[in-house]
Amino acid sequence: APEPTYDTQVGNGGELHQTARDGGDVLTTQQGVPVADDQNTLKVGERGPHLLDDFHFREKIFHFDHERIPERVVHARGYGAHGTFTLNESLEDVTVAKVLTEVGVDTPMFVRFSTVAGNKGSADLARDVRGFAAKFYTPEGNWDIVGNNIPVFFIQDAIKFPDLIHAAKQEPDRGFPQAQTAHDNFWDFISLTPESMHMIMWIMSDRTIPRGFRFIEGFGVHTFRLINAEGKGTYVKFHFKPKLGLQSVLWNEAVKVNGADPDFHRRDLWNAIDQGDFPEWDLGVQLFDDDFADSFQFDVLDSTKLIPEEQIPVRIIGSFKLDRLVDNFFAETEQVAFCTQNVVPGIGFTNDPLLQGRNFSYLDTQLKRLGGPNFTHIPVNAPKIPVKNYQQDGHMAMRNPKGRVNYEPNSWGGPRESPTRGYRHFAAQETGRTAKVRSSTFADHYSQARQFFISQAEIEKKHIGDALTFELSKVIRVDIRETMVGHLRNIDEDLAKTVATGLGLTSMPPAAKAAVETRQDLPA
Ligand code: HEM
Repeated sequence: APEPTYDTQVGNGGELHQTARDGGDVLTTQQGVPVADDQNTLKVGERGPHLLDDFHFREKIFHFDHERIPERVVHARGYGAHGTFTLNESLEDVTVAKVLTEVGVDTPMFVRFSTVAGNKGSADLARDVRGFAAKFYTPEGNWDIVGNNIPVFFIQDAIKFPDLIHAAKQEPDRGFPQAQTAHDNFWDFISLTPESMHMIMWIMSDRTIPRGFRFIEGFGVHTFRLINAEGKGTYVKFHFKPKLGLQSVLWNEAVKVNGADPDFHRRDLWNAIDQGDFPEWDLGVQLFDDDFADSFQFDVLDSTKLIPEEQIPVRIIGSFKLDRLVDNFFAETEQVAFCTQNVVPGIGFTNDPLLQGRNFSYLDTQLKRLGGPNFTHIPVNAPKIPVKNYQQDGHMAMRNPKGRVNYEPNSWGGPRESPTRGYRHFAAQETGRTAKVRSSTFADHYSQARQFFISQAEIEKKHIGDALTFELSKVIRVDIRETMVGHLRNIDEDLAKTVATGLGLTSMPPAAKAAVETRQDLPA
């Protein structure tokens, strides 16, 4: 690129002013009009008032004034890259999805990693869950896995999501903390939400202070459904496993890194891809049927539970690598819109009450965040195959129906539905009366929390105890600390004692009342 050089030139009125030397491409306005002077506004005389005639100045400032869009209501801070997925093993017995059946075919992808609670400008190494959202541009349309780096979630029903997030993010009067779990509101909500205990064990583990995005696992969390040519359903859970292995930092390192380089994770990902050191992940599935679901110790629709790999091994079916940086952070990483309801033929949902709420929430929030119903026209969101339908107009419409016809059915020609090639929903049989209820099969909140804790190595257990002690020591209200220790007693008595001692509690609080007895028979 030519070096920009500046000079003092004589204006129309004979006055001297600073402007660029000629050479290279000519700057234009949004209307394409060439710009003569981008350093000075139009004035009356040398020191006089500005003139509204300066359309270039007004357009430039107007555009700048409107640069910001709402940050994501959660997962605001994130970093993305392009990649390629390659399938090694076909799942054609259980699904018709081409992305999961056409071995050796490359599927372009976009992946965005994120923290959940922090604002857009927060630090990378906060103790937090990491989002792991993947968009596959398949030959049958876009398929998104909008996952996290932890296989379970805080809540069982989407109606609790606004409460969870309000409690986790900055408190409404003081506007802080911006990126930490260590505050009264978060632990108040958690202490009153026993279903979150399994997730709490995971987030107090080293998983929430990862070494980098290149070293995290990803999980679709919910039980989804694969559908084959006969319409038969098979339950599936999706897993991403990093080829570099799972790596974390220690809490003291996280604190130092955050201070020295709040962009540590995004810089690491950028540098790795820039240097050709492309990070890779395997895609694995846990497949199971109704018989397994009926005999499993927990409800497979409950997102606070996982299915141990000892019971259903993860079958690796392919891998992806991130091999291309974005050209523009805003255009791609900021404007990308993932949604759990973006599925392709052969992939469907289950009645997980968290998943069903998410299927509504993402489209709804993106309508506002991305300024109207046409955000699928933005290149990073558009499928890489032709889109043919009669949807039209709205803000920022880049793609309207061509010609005379904008309705269906019509006899002019144009795209039509196809019962044989189109998306078919799984033919589920449902019964029951309408009611606001939580299934009693979701009632055990401690057994898998305990199973996770006892499966940890001694040093990992120590880190969990340290993290809980540190986090709860930031909670001012002693009764909240005590309620939390009461929950820990249902998970592991030694852990509860360690935390109680660390917090300086003078006596052991009573164990929280559990709806069902915690299972002691689950293997570590
Ligand atoms: C954003 C994961 C639960 C609402 C995200 C993102 C991820 C994610 C990874 C960031 C997407 C991106 O990078 O652009 C999850 C997981 C959940 C979960 C794994 C539970 C298993 C929920 C629930 C709701 C919800 C229950 C609401 C009912 C949202 C919203 C956004 C978001 C509104 C912002 C989307 C945007 O502005 O583009 N979630 N989430 N999430 N999630 Fe979730």
